[in-house]
Amino acid sequence: MIEFHDVTVHFAGQPAPAVDRVSLAIERGDCFGILGQSGAGKSTLVRTVNLLQVPTCGHVMVHGHKVDGILSAAALRSLRLKVGMIFQHFNLIKNATVFDNVAFNLKASGADRTTIAAKVPQLLDAVGLSGKEAVYPPALSGGQKQRVAIARALANDPEILLCDEATSALDPDTTAEIVALLQQLKEEHHLTVLFITHQMEVAKKLFNKVALMQRGRVVETASTYDFFARPQSAYGQQLVAQYQHDLLPDELWRSEPELFEIIYKLDHAFDSVIAAAMHRFDVDINILGGRVEYIGGKPLGRLIISIARCPSAALKQEVLAFLAQSTYLTALTPPHSAAVGAADAGTGADAAVAGTAADNAAGAGAEASSEA
Ligand SMILES: Nc1ncnc2c1ncn2[C@@H]1O[C@H](COP(=O)(O)OP(=O)(O)OP(=O)(O)O)[C@@H](O)[C@H]1O
Ligand SMILES: [Mg+2]
Repeated sequence: MIEFHDVTVHFAGQPAPAVDRVSLAIERGDCFGILGQSGAGKSTLVRTVNLLQVPTCGHVMVHGHKVDGILSAAALRSLRLKVGMIFQHFNLIKNATVFDNVAFNLKASGADRTTIAAKVPQLLDAVGLSGKEAVYPPALSGGQKQRVAIARALANDPEILLCDEATSALDPDTTAEIVALLQQLKEEHHLTVLFITHQMEVAKKLFNKVALMQRGRVVETASTYDFFARPQSAYGQQLVAQYQHDLLPDELWRSEPELFEIIYKLDHAFDSVIAAAMHRFDVDINILGGRVEYIGGKPLGRLIISIARCPSAALKQEVLAFLAQSTYLTALTPPHSAAVGAADAGTGADAAVAGTAADNAAGAGAEASSEA
């Protein structure tokens, strides 16, 4: 559906490419998320799909056709009809009515007056804005402006919708409304969606797959579930750990010096692993936080625990190893510690610390299970 083959975009005068040899395949019906830090090259990459940005080298394919080879205006217009786009700041024409904003794309594709008169109200109805035809954008809320932009993007029945931070300027409630609307429209219009965001909540709700970009490169591609359960790249681990840290209250860190996060592996989602560990090793395991969330309909259980009444460090390692047999276990570091400060600077130190603890536990787990 959309394929990036070794796509590089190098802007003149820049020391490094904005997009650096990216290869990705987005399949029909995907809601594919692009995550990554500011300046990572997300927008530049996505803009190559409708040729708002021409790759310096590499190829972009849409429906098996090479986009970067398009030379004629007619072929470019036909490509852009297939690809709708919405943006963080809506990009509406301020001094045109809602009707005219939506009609703009229809006029551009050569639709006649009768078609436009019939289609604009249908589109506005689909985004929940019936009756707003004569209103001007400055009189609309952010969420309503984005609804107009979505109606405009869908005007020519595109097969692909590109979304560049489309919910980033909205408050959480409005973000949830727009996410729900996009989910509904995606199904009704059989859209393939390529969506850039830095909002983890949006990623969890909306995407089935994600790619993580850092300094122009894709450093990780995974199903959304796997990304949140077990990120593979150092940067992914840092990002997910930071997101989880942000959800924990500071009081917890003040009262508990050593916290662990366990994520149940899918088939162990509701196992009583904690009770088994307490019974087996005669220690206390305090459950300090956690929840089961559903990503793509699959349960992802996270618990924050501490281990108490544990007489020796060796026994603690055994307990951790036991837990790591049926969970993904990570040692958490306080959000304001030196380790996290270093991670913020992009070193991935936080993830490295967490990863080491988990790896140790997993390694010990292998030993423990061979003893059992
Ligand atoms: N037209 C341009 N000319 C020169 N450099 C550019 C141009 N567009 C983008 N860049 C540079 O390319 C890099 C990637 O930019 P891009 O906008 O793709 O990042 P991004 O991941 O979308 O960031 P953000 O999350 O802040 O939107 C940045 O260093 C940016 O300054
Ligand atoms: Mg951007």
